[in-house]
Amino acid sequence: QDISRSPLEYVKGVLLIKYFAEALGPLQTFWARPDDLLISTYPKSGTTWVSQILDMIYQGGDLEKCHRAPIFMRVPFLEFKAPGILSGLETLKDTPAPRLLKTHLPLALLPQTLLDQKVKVRLGPLPLQVVFVDVAVSYYHFHRMAKVRPDPGTWESFLEKFMAGEVSYGSWYQHMQEWWELSHTHPVLYLFYEDMKENPKREIRKILEFVGLSLPEETVDLMVQHTSFREMKKNPMTNYTTVPQEFMDHSISPFMRKGMAGDWKTTFTVAQNERFDVDYAEKMAGCSLSFRSEL
Ligand code: PPS
Repeated sequence: QDISRSPLEYVKGVLLIKYFAEALGPLQTFWARPDDLLISTYPKSGTTWVSQILDMIYQGGDLEKCHRAPIFMRVPFLEFKAPGILSGLETLKDTPAPRLLKTHLPLALLPQTLLDQKVKVRLGPLPLQVVFVDVAVSYYHFHRMAKVRPDPGTWESFLEKFMAGEVSYGSWYQHMQEWWELSHTHPVLYLFYEDMKENPKREIRKILEFVGLSLPEETVDLMVQHTSFREMKKNPMTNYTTVPQEFMDHSISPFMRKGMAGDWKTTFTVAQNERFDVDYAEKMAGCSLSFRSEL
């Protein structure tokens, strides 16, 4: 039997799943360590991919060590909370330093300690697509299978809500812009999904440099291979199939769904695409962050 789908509620102007909103209070007592690394993304932007790469880096490319637990146990999801499942904060208790942390929170809801404690490095959002449209598609399918989220309704209606920022975690546009701004004053590595697809080795090297570590060439090659979509899709420690079915129903839509940039073209109608482009140009007009215009 499915657990009940959580409604959304506004916290400081941002919509959140009610369960996650409840986690924000206790999260205020969370104390960041200077050697924490925060993986910050808007949902469905490649978080799991980067998490796996970073855990592999931290484990020196040792595959067995990376197989020690599912990705959500190795990289605690700070604001995660759902009935009957270990919360992000609970997971954190048993996580040894140096810790990798995951969040999708906008800055307004991020525990201040992460900004104050001079957390050494942070990883910026990873827009999943040229103008991130694949995020919308991926987020839609995720709502269908991940049962703590509200039912997304039709694609048409979900897209409207997404563009209006009326989905969990609020506006993608705002999230992008504020984290981009933060990268001017804080150590943020901003990665792009399409760059990672194009040349994963180059991007892994960037991450290594960012965290100040180096690994032998053959280890980096091994990492490229084992963090590919194909491998991560069949790896139970990365594909979320260890989550009970009432929380995530992979028969509706697998967590590792397509893993590609450009798939939005099969979902968007021409009219939706045109409307989206106009809306995007308006909302991102003042932002210096630019995406590739073509793949
Ligand atoms: S979540 O729930 O917000 O943490 O999801 P997130 O991990 O950010 O995003 C899930 C999408 O990332 C794709 N993915 C990958 N793509 C390419 N290579 C690798 N290794 C990889 N791992 C995960 C995953 O398939 C989801 O995208 P869609 O478009 O739904 O397939």
